[in-house]
Amino acid sequence: MDFNKLQAVKVDREHDGTTIVTLNRPEKRNAMSPQMHFEMVDVLKELAEDRETRVLVLTGAGDSWCAGQDIKLFFRDLDDKPKERYLARLANHEWRWTLLSTFPKPTIAMVNGYCFGGAFVQLYACDFAIAADNATFGLSEVNWGILPGGLVGKVIMDGLSYRDAVWYAMTGEPMDAKTAAGIRLINKSVPPENLRAETMALAASLAKKNPQTLRTIKESLRFVRGMS
Ligand code: ACO
Repeated sequence: MDFNKLQAVKVDREHDGTTIVTLNRPEKRNAMSPQMHFEMVDVLKELAEDRETRVLVLTGAGDSWCAGQDIKLFFRDLDDKPKERYLARLANHEWRWTLLSTFPKPTIAMVNGYCFGGAFVQLYACDFAIAADNATFGLSEVNWGILPGGLVGKVIMDGLSYRDAVWYAMTGEPMDAKTAAGIRLINKSVPPENLRAETMALAASLAKKNPQTLRTIKESLRFVRGMS
């Protein structure tokens, strides 16, 4: 696959086995367009068994991680285009959940800024999440007159306490990164100037471990979580 042809996503291979995948629409705060969904499906399929990739880091270009679904391109523009809407929704689900949550290598969300609405799905699909202290998180759907749809409701009910999930989903109140770490939405928040170094240090330590063991741990933990 020629990563240079991507328009809404960027892929950078670091020398130590870490591959950085960047959602790359900074002018739209990395809101997810259909094109971004299609490209991410291709990128994750390509990297899953890529020999040079031992750890995957997901981040955003500019000062935002991901501003959720692109309200215009993913919703409004597809209202009267059932086939395009169907394909975009399939791709949207495929990369953010089917491919990312089962990605056969460790994944780290490196949250460099805004994380809103639908972005919570890929946040939870990643195994680890480290944010900059100045990142802002929000379940803003209520302010658009919609519910936290798709898998957002599922991941917040699985990942947060009932009280916190209901609070943030019904108030739409944004939270800063320290609060997000306090309620365990993310692992930790660090000064913005340290975000990359802290993420890369975690990636480097994971890259030294037995990849098959990590794969098995990840698979089994995600599997048992849903067992009765
Ligand atoms: N969908 C479409 N366009 C978006 C989105 C989005 N989710 N988020 C930002 N943009 C666009 C803006 O329309 C604007 O476009 P323009 O320059 O053509 O006018 C551009 O990105 C920059 O946005 P600003 O609001 O000017 O940037 P700012 O840095 O001031 O604020 C912020 C960033 C806080 C992320 C703000 O854009 C925002 O609140 N966005 C909506 C976030 C949201 O509620 N997402 C959930 C959507 S619902 C869902 O995911 C199911």
